[in-house]
Amino acid sequence: MRRDIINAAILWFALTLVAELSLPPLYGLFPLAAAQEALVSDESFRVLMALGTPVFTFVVAVLLYSLIRFRARGGALENGAPIRGSDRVAGVWLAITGGLCITVIIYPGMTGLAEFQGNKNADLVVKVTGRQWAWDFAYPAYNITGATEIVLPVDKRVKFEITSADVLHSFWIPAFRDKMDAVPGQVNTMYVTPNTLASFDHDFNLRVQCAEICGTSHAAMSAPVRIVSQTDFDAWVKEKSIISDDPVARGATLSKSLGCAACHSTDGSKIVGPTWLNLYGSQVAFEDGTTMKADEAFLREFILNPDFKVVKGFSKGVMPPSLGKSLTPEQINDLIAYIKSLSK
Ligand code: HEC
Repeated sequence: MRRDIINAAILWFALTLVAELSLPPLYGLFPLAAAQEALVSDESFRVLMALGTPVFTFVVAVLLYSLIRFRARGGALENGAPIRGSDRVAGVWLAITGGLCITVIIYPGMTGLAEFQGNKNADLVVKVTGRQWAWDFAYPAYNITGATEIVLPVDKRVKFEITSADVLHSFWIPAFRDKMDAVPGQVNTMYVTPNTLASFDHDFNLRVQCAEICGTSHAAMSAPVRIVSQTDFDAWVKEKSIISDDPVARGATLSKSLGCAACHSTDGSKIVGPTWLNLYGSQVAFEDGTTMKADEAFLREFILNPDFKVVKGFSKGVMPPSLGKSLTPEQINDLIAYIKSLSK
């Protein structure tokens, strides 16, 4: 028995050594980390792996050794001597794994959480609204609304105020690691300090991705993120704060931030709804056999009351009737101007 314990211990030691040594090269597979919080997150992962590995290899070593050493070797099968529980072994096992659990709850658990949320001072507030199926960003301090990308100055602490206009979504930027639910009627906060100049164009992990299944176009619910220098950020703010006096440009931005573009293409392809390419001025056929010319009045009626007719080949009730009701008359005019501009 003593021999067996020594053998199993040697196997455990060898497995642990191999596993612990093969871990660090695997950490090279981590996706881009572009925020201080991401480094904390990755560090926690490494600590948990380093502490968890010996527990895992212990179970594997005992199992492997027992399978080989105590296998049936042919001949007559008979029951072995009865095994009685050992309070000592159980006690030691409980003490060690319990101790490990308490350790990781404190570090990296509570210490990590404190690093994420401890400091409530933010240099910049970004309001985030999720809706089926687009993200809408606003920078209250700069009067910017309806942004379709997130632009952040490097090394500044950013507070995201996250909510939803319809169903549950989840705000996730892989390069920052953090994730926060977007809940209708509630504002959740998340703090991030971007620490690398990078953008979605360089690395696709710098994107907002919905991480809570929210309907048929859930996977397409993403938006680019850009981390820039303070000077570039100021320039972007300046450019964005000048409200465009072109209704078509305003309409194009609205169609993205409101999520129309998730269902309506502008290149003739059919996504969830009909394309807007050459819609204006065309003769639209309905499921009930009637047709109607797509003029301004028709577009207005449809945006305000999507169920008044069902376009042939599509289903009723897909386009959210709540959308139009939340818009101002100017916004509806902008959207119509934009749809008009898509007819040649
Ligand atoms: C969830 C998907 C979805 C979203 C979001 C959506 N629509 Fe639609 N839309 C549809 C579908 C499906 C139809 C056709 C079915 C029907 O008749 O109800 C449609 C039809 C329309 C039509 C009728 C004319 C036609 O042939 O295309 C207009 C105009 C329109 N949508 C405008 C908008 C605007 C403006 C927005 C954004 C404020 C928007 N839609 C958002 C799915 C959507």
